[in-house]
Amino acid sequence: MPAEVLRNIEERAAAVGFPALKRAAAELSAAYRAGRALHAGSPANVAAYLVTRMPATYAAAYAALRGVRERVGAVASVLDIGAGTGGASLAARQWFPDAAITMIERDPDRVAAARAWLPDAAVTVADVTRMDALPPHDLVMAAYSLGELGRFPAARLWQAARVALVAIEPGTPRGFALIRGLRQELLDAGARMVAPCPAETACPMAQPGWCHFAARVERSSLHRRIKDAELGYEDEKFSYVALARAPVELPAGRIIRHPQHRPGLIVIETCTPAGLRLERISRRERERFRAARKAAWGDAVIS
Ligand SMILES: C[S@@+](CC[C@H](N)C(=O)[O-])C[C@H]1O[C@@H](n2cnc3c(N)ncnc32)[C@H](O)[C@@H]1O
Repeated sequence: MPAEVLRNIEERAAAVGFPALKRAAAELSAAYRAGRALHAGSPANVAAYLVTRMPATYAAAYAALRGVRERVGAVASVLDIGAGTGGASLAARQWFPDAAITMIERDPDRVAAARAWLPDAAVTVADVTRMDALPPHDLVMAAYSLGELGRFPAARLWQAARVALVAIEPGTPRGFALIRGLRQELLDAGARMVAPCPAETACPMAQPGWCHFAARVERSSLHRRIKDAELGYEDEKFSYVALARAPVELPAGRIIRHPQHRPGLIVIETCTPAGLRLERISRRERERFRAARKAAWGDAVIS
């Protein structure tokens, strides 16, 4: 995240004090693990979200929006549904610096924090499920909010998307199920695939698997202290889909797990238009092996 945003977050956290922050972070992570929403309600809750979750949601949104920028191009306006403290909007600001951003968020405390780093964004403090119609924007985003919207119809998000829609959820079986459901519903309604899938056919992922990706997140020293963690980073697991009104060129496949490196052999699991494939690339296939050494989870397969 931009350095000035990180500094602002540190200041808010310092104002709350470490013990209250640590308690609020523990509550937040218990709620997150249980897949339940936590109403912010206090400066400590908001600060805990800012320190422990927003860098991760930002990183996931940044990774997902890359595909939109690369395949769809620039957009002029962005609507962020369940914007919270603005993690996804901030990521959208990086990829679409000239876009007008609108955030819809029911929690005034969270979105008040977002105003500090997105001062020019329009804000609607409202329960989105009670709004008559969503204002049309080029790009509609729902980052880590679908799971909190209950039975909110995906079609309402899609109606507001003039160019594209991105939905991101935690990379858990539940998060993936939400993304897969939205993907199929909107493909059936005529949406075109942008990412991560290489095809518009039914998702070939079978239980107990779930399709998800990982974004590397630097942990601040405060974040490490709150979590009693040693590592200076964590990998945020997320599931996502990006869809558009117009067709885009899709890759030949997508790497859906960390490639496994064994002596003289690299095993790569990909999703392709023909289904899931396990490729075993031996050191004897010199060119392919060299390319496979650089391959990473989440990469598009070009040929
Ligand atoms: C897990 S947070 C994600 C926040 C942000 N999108 C991010 O990626 O960091 C989910 C947000 O959705 C908001 N939300 C949940 N239900 C909502 C509703 N019905 N209307 C508006 N906002 C809602 C919550 O208040 C919360 O801030």
